[in-house]
Amino acid sequence: MTNLGTMKRFLLARRPAGMPVEEDFQLGEVPVPQPEAGQLLVRAHYISVDPLQRPRMQESSSYGQTIPLGGLVVGRMVGEVIESRNPAYREGEFVEGMLGWQEYALSDGGTHKAEYAPGLTRVDPALGPISTALGILGMPGVTAYFSLLDLGRPQPGETVVISTAAGTVGSLAGQIARIHGCRVVGICGSEEKRRYVVDELGFAGAVNYNATSDLAGEIRRLCPGGVDIYLDHVGGATREAVLTNLQLRARVVLVGYISGVNGARPTVADPAIPLMSRRARMEGFIVYDYEDRADEARQAIAGWLQEGKLSYRETIVDGFEELPRAFISMLNGGNIGKQLVRMAGAR
Ligand SMILES: NC(=O)c1ccc[n+]([C@@H]2O[C@H](COP(=O)([O-])OP(=O)(O)OC[C@H]3O[C@@H](n4cnc5c(N)ncnc54)[C@H](OP(=O)(O)O)[C@@H]3O)[C@@H](O)[C@H]2O)c1
Repeated sequence: MTNLGTMKRFLLARRPAGMPVEEDFQLGEVPVPQPEAGQLLVRAHYISVDPLQRPRMQESSSYGQTIPLGGLVVGRMVGEVIESRNPAYREGEFVEGMLGWQEYALSDGGTHKAEYAPGLTRVDPALGPISTALGILGMPGVTAYFSLLDLGRPQPGETVVISTAAGTVGSLAGQIARIHGCRVVGICGSEEKRRYVVDELGFAGAVNYNATSDLAGEIRRLCPGGVDIYLDHVGGATREAVLTNLQLRARVVLVGYISGVNGARPTVADPAIPLMSRRARMEGFIVYDYEDRADEARQAIAGWLQEGKLSYRETIVDGFEELPRAFISMLNGGNIGKQLVRMAGAR
């Protein structure tokens, strides 16, 4: 193998206080590693910025391991195998995994992914552009599919409310609910996003939470018969507003709490009362429980894509060094669909 010189990577320079800033991340340069027997070397084409990375930057993460100070920023990557000393992988294949914010990564070829393990998934470029392995055909896609179908259990004619509606998970989950005959109402943070989910994705309605002082009232207006399923990606006051509008026997799926990941802890009412009075069910969801069934989601989503039943967007910036800015922008709602960073020479 020829010497590939050096590569860039981002380390966690300090633990963000509230919303991360660029100085929390330190750009470093190290030699590109050489794979040993059993290992493969992956060159990044796209690197992902995901909300789930933010809690991992705290001293103690709410789920999975925390990133040590000075450690490599843990994040997902789709890349090309450029050297393989592992018989299970060939050079030229594409893989996805939790390989970190770095231009090249070594892997032992393992496939275990639970709790942020760096296990690989082989990417099938026939299913969609390789970037989608970080979005609708990747971890967020598996999340949208199973949180809605396994935990939400939608029935035709039911009303499904989805927060972060124009984001990666929300925009896909809403379309899957629509395909299953549900009436879908979104919650999102701008007028552009509101129009996107209604005009392009076929949601029955949506509310821009930044443009109303009465979110609960807006949801009541858009869901006059009540909410049968709520996919909660936000937590806090948004969840409280939806809970006051539940239909009998509603299902509330706890998928994310992005309103709280930067340390904001708004005071919200105890959810027990609306849940009890509506005989509703609230259940937590973690995508890694579905590792063994992920391909079922990928195939179904790819099929709907090919049939033209759903669409997706990506918000892409170019250049490895943009990673911290892209991450901060996503946490501020700057993305429609999946926020990605594209490396030079990406496919
Ligand atoms: N449980 C699991 O296994 C699992 C797996 C994947 C993702 N998730 C969770 O699912 C959620 C969506 O993830 P994603 O990857 O699809 O991200 P995304 O929706 O593509 O991007 C994040 C979006 O969150 C919204 N947001 C940011 N701060 C907010 C706040 N204070 N209040 C309300 N909305 C806010 C922004 O949209 P607006 O402009 O609309 O505010 C932003 O665009 C996250 O909470 C994530 O942690 C959970």
